[in-house]
Amino acid sequence: MTLGESTGYDYSRLQNPTRQRLEETVASLEGGIDALAFSSGMAAITALMEIFKPGDHIISDMDLYGGVIRLFDNISEKNSIEFSHIDCSKENIEDYIKENTKAIYVETPTNPMMNVVDIKKTSEIAKKHKLLLIVDNTFLTPYFQQPFKLGADIVVHSGTKFLGGHNDTLAGFIVVNSKELSEKMRFIIKTVGSGLAPFDSWLILRGIKTLHLRMEQAQKNAKAIVDFLLKESKVKKVYYPGIEGTTGYEICKKQARGFGSMITFEVESKELALHILKSLKLIPFAESLGGTETLLTYPATQTHADVPEEVRIKNGITDRVLRLSAGIEDSQDLIADLKQAINSFTEA
Ligand SMILES: Cc1ncc(COP(=O)(O)O)c(C=O)c1O
Repeated sequence: MTLGESTGYDYSRLQNPTRQRLEETVASLEGGIDALAFSSGMAAITALMEIFKPGDHIISDMDLYGGVIRLFDNISEKNSIEFSHIDCSKENIEDYIKENTKAIYVETPTNPMMNVVDIKKTSEIAKKHKLLLIVDNTFLTPYFQQPFKLGADIVVHSGTKFLGGHNDTLAGFIVVNSKELSEKMRFIIKTVGSGLAPFDSWLILRGIKTLHLRMEQAQKNAKAIVDFLLKESKVKKVYYPGIEGTTGYEICKKQARGFGSMITFEVESKELALHILKSLKLIPFAESLGGTETLLTYPATQTHADVPEEVRIKNGITDRVLRLSAGIEDSQDLIADLKQAINSFTEA
């Protein structure tokens, strides 16, 4: 090779063949024109914030993964990006749009309260006011939901979760559907240097090969667990978009092909919640989600520990709330484990 020639892979921070293959796969699954793979979901969202400048305003849902709230409230705000945290599933978003508003940021369903945001309706507001609609599609993945088809401009993923699917690596994605956003994000990824390493890219590619099988089985398990939880007298509330008659159900049914495998539920006391966490024998008490194994999380002190207490409680994340990510095991084993954990509780 001589000066001015290139294989297209001059330096791994810019691109490497395995990451490129993964990015092409994720772009095609989401129906975007480009996808960029980052070293984690948080690395992806942090890099995405670089398309904004000081003085810009973003309307963000108030129920988001706690790490994203920590990023927005501490780092992005320090960089003079302003946020309005609202309930995008219920409130009138237009009431919060200002002259400097540049984007709307949502997860749907939200982590952990499983609120469903109407993507099409929100995208119409975004288009009317020339805002970017950013949708975190981690919970449903493109297998069940494709936000671009509903008008989103940017799709975000924690690839650590369902895309990777085995709880053995971290990854994140920013998927775009315009050349302008693709060029901006390509400049950012090569500059900030948080692109995904080749080996992790290979692990996520391998995980994606079974995405359809895992999503179906995990959803089947989730539905069986929801049916069980709804009948348990010590379980006071179950949050799952697939429950008919709930506010999110109709919207989720309209905009997605499935309801996914994330369930949040509230039990009658904090003591019972803590008892369940320590009594489970098959289901690990652990922080992640979207893997082959079912995991149970305590959002108040894990995923949402850094969210100010009053915001956490306002969003419904009390100390009686547990979040379950259904895996692909036998549902009867999972239900038996939950049953023994709940039923072995005796009040002090
Ligand atoms: C919905 C959602 N988005 C983003 C993230 C951040 O991803 P990561 O843990 O890969 O940095 C998470 C992590 O739990 C998440 O649940």
